[in-house]
Amino acid sequence: MIIVPSSSSESLARKVADELGARISGVERKRFPDGEMYVRILEGLQGNDVTVIGNIRSDSDFLELLLLLNAAREGGSSNVTAVVPYYGYSRQHRIYNPGEPVSSKVVTRAIEEFADRIICVEIHDPETIGFSAKPFRNISVIQTTSEYFLDKNIDLVMSPDDGGFDKAQKMADILHIPSHFIDKKRIDSKTVEMTLPNVELSGKNILLVDDMISTGGTIIKAVKLLKEHGAARISVCAVHGIFAKESGKRIEAEVDSLVVTDTIEGEYSLVSVSKDIGKAIAGGNDL
Ligand code: R5P
Repeated sequence: MIIVPSSSSESLARKVADELGARISGVERKRFPDGEMYVRILEGLQGNDVTVIGNIRSDSDFLELLLLLNAAREGGSSNVTAVVPYYGYSRQHRIYNPGEPVSSKVVTRAIEEFADRIICVEIHDPETIGFSAKPFRNISVIQTTSEYFLDKNIDLVMSPDDGGFDKAQKMADILHIPSHFIDKKRIDSKTVEMTLPNVELSGKNILLVDDMISTGGTIIKAVKLLKEHGAARISVCAVHGIFAKESGKRIEAEVDSLVVTDTIEGEYSLVSVSKDIGKAIAGGNDL
């Protein structure tokens, strides 16, 4: 097994390679004078199982992932796995307004063109999995993220909307504490209204959980509401820390702790999903 890291997932790929006792390949990267991307896998791949690990945080990440997958195939790999820790574009898994594409279908069809199977972590909407004819596994990291909070004296888990409540409930079960969700209503494209459940929050140590943090708008609004209702401590946990518009700093200023996983590597990536990914890779096509 050879692991090929994309530039978006270098340290996570190294950890996964360590988990599996696999070799990690060097990758040469440069830009042609006209700006086009060039990649070259430096390890000989002939007859080897190859896993390319790269998230889709940007359009350039996406292209690099596709180029590396194709390079693995062209290089004679017997089996190519695409591990996409953060599966970007999965929020556009359906048409909301006439004239739009189903972006997550486009991304998936492109990846499966070059890969024999796909593995991702906590995809935003599992509907995307149905767009692939190849084996496609969506790993849950609820156990791993919950374990981080086992000794943090959390009183209750809160989801900022009902869509994420299932995850909050599962974390709460592992921590043996209650869970609730905030009723989030979209009024128009710019306004969201949030209503807290009718539970005692005063003096409580609350863990606010979401699948991803992008602009931070959802989390910051929820944090302010929880504070207004007397929460003593607020910890925020998400799987994917996109942190658009410096939202990490803005959230950090408002809460007691901010924790994300290393699906997107950054300063708040205090939980590693490398073991979960290693297990999924080693599990073959057993979905
Ligand atoms: C919404 O369905 C998601 O679970 C997240 O709550 C949302 O994508 C977070 O985005 P933002 O940080 O921009 O509010």
